[in-house]
Amino acid sequence: MFDLLENWKRTEYTGGLNIESEGQDVVIMGWVHNRRDMGNLIFIDLRDVKGIVQVVFNPMNGTQLLTKAHNLRLEYVIAVKGTVSVRPQNMINPDLKTGQIEVIAKDLKILNSSKELPIQINEKVVADEDLRLKYRYLDLRRQELQHKILLRHSMIYEMRKFLTEHDFYEIETPLLVRSTPEGARDYLVPSREYKGKFYALPQSPQIYKQLLMIGGFDKYFQIAHCFRDEDLRADRQPEFTQLDLEMSFVSQEDIFEVIEELFYRIFKKILDVELPIPFPRLSYHEAMSRFGSDKPDLRFGLEIQDVTDIVRNAEFRVFSSVAEKGGCIRALNAKGCGEYTRKEIDKLEDIAKHLGGKGLARMKVKGGTLHSNIDKFFSDELKQQIMERMEAEEGDLILFVADREKIVCKVLGELRNHLAKELGLIDNSEFNFLWVTDFPLFEWNDKEERWETAHHMFTMPKDEHIPYLDDPEKYGDIIGQLYDLVCNGLELSSGSIRCHRPDIQRKIFEIIGIKGEELEQRFGFFLKAFDYGTPPHGGIAPGIDRIVMIMTAAESIRDVIAFPKTLKAVDLMSESPSVIDSSLLDDLGLEIKE
Ligand code: AMO
Ligand code: AMP
Repeated sequence: MFDLLENWKRTEYTGGLNIESEGQDVVIMGWVHNRRDMGNLIFIDLRDVKGIVQVVFNPMNGTQLLTKAHNLRLEYVIAVKGTVSVRPQNMINPDLKTGQIEVIAKDLKILNSSKELPIQINEKVVADEDLRLKYRYLDLRRQELQHKILLRHSMIYEMRKFLTEHDFYEIETPLLVRSTPEGARDYLVPSREYKGKFYALPQSPQIYKQLLMIGGFDKYFQIAHCFRDEDLRADRQPEFTQLDLEMSFVSQEDIFEVIEELFYRIFKKILDVELPIPFPRLSYHEAMSRFGSDKPDLRFGLEIQDVTDIVRNAEFRVFSSVAEKGGCIRALNAKGCGEYTRKEIDKLEDIAKHLGGKGLARMKVKGGTLHSNIDKFFSDELKQQIMERMEAEEGDLILFVADREKIVCKVLGELRNHLAKELGLIDNSEFNFLWVTDFPLFEWNDKEERWETAHHMFTMPKDEHIPYLDDPEKYGDIIGQLYDLVCNGLELSSGSIRCHRPDIQRKIFEIIGIKGEELEQRFGFFLKAFDYGTPPHGGIAPGIDRIVMIMTAAESIRDVIAFPKTLKAVDLMSESPSVIDSSLLDDLGLEIKE
């Protein structure tokens, strides 16, 4: 048998070599990251998964070796036998971890060649993302991406260790499940055996983890792959990974404690950062009114203030009519932006309109009072009151939005994030965690004129709100035992205390319009299980991809997933989704409708 590596066994990774390795004979293997060919002297940067080291080919070890080294090109795969040598003082490379040493080559084996590369690996210039995704296996060789993917591994390893130490059991749940959409559209898998019937890929293991609690496992976790056919964004992929967990005999506080300790552990171990725990908490209501978002970025201030009570009496019809109709007027103080030009402010107004706002009223603070295109509608006294409420100072710019509360929050919440970026208020080295709690259980869907669960249909209402389930007037006031973990404006985790009482669970289904035959068909098997002694339980599911994004300051979720899809849910490398053979369709009893 031809053995390419006969008598060649790797002794070290390049990253493990240092000044203490001096004089050591080593065998290293990897890719040609860089080459400088000076005729009689050839320098190769050899890269493997743990680093890069400089290899020197010189005539002292024979011209044959030098000739062979002349043939090396970028990304050739090679094995080198050599001796570690300390570099002369003036040759030390402080930018390289192994920059104090080099390996003097004694033998070289070319294990494979490489064609000319479609994307560069050894330069900072990063190619167009579509091209990088097409050649993902090459892009993955870049150290920046390797770092993120390897950090992801270390984090998952720590999570498994931590949870195992805390009496959690890792249990797998099926990937071919019954279609019971949880909010997004399901990815479906046709059944060959039962034509016209489908499995779905799970949007999360929600039902199964609750059934595991009923099955008596007490504490469960899983690194769970989830699938959702929904609109994608910078922090959303069609398939992603959750650290899914569930616990029996617990209240919300117990879950917070485990998650805080878990996050403390992984940040300490991976980044050597000590997160301040316990994390602060904000109710949903407070988060929305003060920051216009249920996932507020608290690395900066720019708090939103309500000014409805002040401006409702102004002669400005836009404001007074909104107030009369039960809407609200809220404002942001863009500190120091009083010199913004018309064009700059119009850009902010465009953002507001794009988000569904009708406009963006503005006032500049100048000469101790407020000036604007609408200031004639406001008395000096009202202006003074606005200034006080907004803690306005000379040179500030105040931005107002009048509308239904939902729109006001959305517009000002986004403008707040936009301004923070524009004004450089964000400290990128900070990790600002908080719990957002007390979400409403139900939300009114205007379009379909029906109630739907705002977050999670398996959630227990707060004890004191259970009676409201019998009063349709009060559905909107019911607070669920729901919580999100937020960091730097990103929703990292979501969870709840579940409904362990079948009567309450049935009632919730009924309120959102799932009842009778439909209820039995979709959730009958699940509800039946609740009749046989269900422990009180609750859980949470931190999004693994998003945690790695936060830890590595990645702009896009695609940078923390080895093989991601584009915003259009396409895998450019394998060109998936793809057309399939018509015989496969026949097997499944399917026909494509044009
Ligand atoms: P939820 O749907 O809120 O809750 O998801 C929990 C966490 O999963 C991550 N996440 C995503 N990450 C990347 N791409 C996506 N498309 C995506 N969707 C969600 C987020 C989010 O906070 N079963 C419940 C959890 C529970 O109640 O225990 C659930 O799935 O980080
Ligand atoms: P108009 O009277 O429509 O020309 O609006 C006067 C100013 O009020 C403009 O600067 C608009 O951007 C602003 N404006 C209009 N509607 C709203 C609204 N709903 N909320 C905040 N500002 C608004």
